[in-house]
Amino acid sequence: MRYIQSGMAVLFKPLKVKALPVHLILEPTTFCPLNCRMCKRAKYVTVPKHMAMDEFRTIFDQVKPLRLTLSGLGESLVNPALVDMIHYASRQGTVVSTTSSMALADIPMESLVKSGLKRLKVSLDAATPETYQEIRGLDLFGRVVDNIKAIVSMKQKTSTTGLHICLQVVIQSKNISQLSQIVELAADIGVNDVSFRLVGLAGIEEKRDELVAGLTPVVVVCQMKRARDTAGRLGMKTNLANLLTGTPWDVSCDKKYQNIRHCSFPWFSMYITVDGEVKPCCMFSYIDAGLGNLLQEDIHTVWNNSKYQQFRQILRQGKYPDARCQECVPERIFSLAGVFRRIGNRRRRIC
Ligand SMILES: C[S@@+](CC[C@H](N)C(=O)[O-])C[C@H]1O[C@@H](n2cnc3c(N)ncnc32)[C@H](O)[C@@H]1O
Ligand code: SF4
Ligand code: SF4
Repeated sequence: MRYIQSGMAVLFKPLKVKALPVHLILEPTTFCPLNCRMCKRAKYVTVPKHMAMDEFRTIFDQVKPLRLTLSGLGESLVNPALVDMIHYASRQGTVVSTTSSMALADIPMESLVKSGLKRLKVSLDAATPETYQEIRGLDLFGRVVDNIKAIVSMKQKTSTTGLHICLQVVIQSKNISQLSQIVELAADIGVNDVSFRLVGLAGIEEKRDELVAGLTPVVVVCQMKRARDTAGRLGMKTNLANLLTGTPWDVSCDKKYQNIRHCSFPWFSMYITVDGEVKPCCMFSYIDAGLGNLLQEDIHTVWNNSKYQQFRQILRQGKYPDARCQECVPERIFSLAGVFRRIGNRRRRIC
């Protein structure tokens, strides 16, 4: 019923939305032991903190989202309450996913697998130790691969789990020639699929040369097609076919590809920082100005306050409410294809 109400809101785009967000992206921590070259965290997080379990409950209980993504500007697994958060939400029927570097020495594999987690996205942007270290700053490639193999094996032994494990790859200059090898590695490790995304430059524009040097559309498309063919040969699922047809391969974000009117996020989804600050989506994670605060205000007040309504109004007019929206090609969550994918139980990445 809530999906239907949200779908109606996405279709008709009212300024005030009755149905509470069906999807929450919640930042469990801003601590992280890594310093990846493409990540905004080092630039924007000055005093890291964990979200406490009672703060999590305060937010979750107000919204009771149907889907919850635990991810933000930090390493989710560093928060000692993460497994409890997953368990708390999944017990209430929420589909929970999280993203992790899986680079920690001690990962509570068994409790993670048994927590009710439905989707684990593991960030692995390299097929060799050298490239991993260049991108992620530390020589941890071997440990990460071992950790992924361990959780895949734990999952296979645990018959009750419906956990889906996916590699998440941020395409950038350093790894553009390894996309195909990453697919081979994924098949070797035994993950369910590989999700590629182009490096985002919003908030770290000064790193443009470092991150996307040499990434012309021809180079990117050629390497993606190679990886897609490898995936086809190995029977590994990827999002490459979608990306090849639906994304601006000019990483400077050629405006002709953008269609701001497709953005439906402020009608069904909400991003919440470790401090409870509400943002329209993950692209705003690092910006001070928020739309409200769910540790200080009630969801019903925030969801339809004047800031939210103004944001929706500008989007509805086909304009950019913020500079970040100019750099963004939002996914069409409620497209017909999306509905069929959902019916076929094939979930799509949201953030
Ligand atoms: C910010 S991290 C947080 C979770 C965890 N620390 C990790 O690395 O998986 C969430 C995801 O964003 C990706 N990411 C980081 N910087 C990015 C950028 N500039 N553009 C696109 N994705 C990025 C990471 O690789 C990771 O898959
Ligand atoms: S991408 Fe993830 S692991 Fe890397 S610095 Fe950012 S938060 Fe940490
Ligand atoms: S950054 Fe993108 S997804 Fe976020 S509100 Fe703007 S257009 Fe929508």
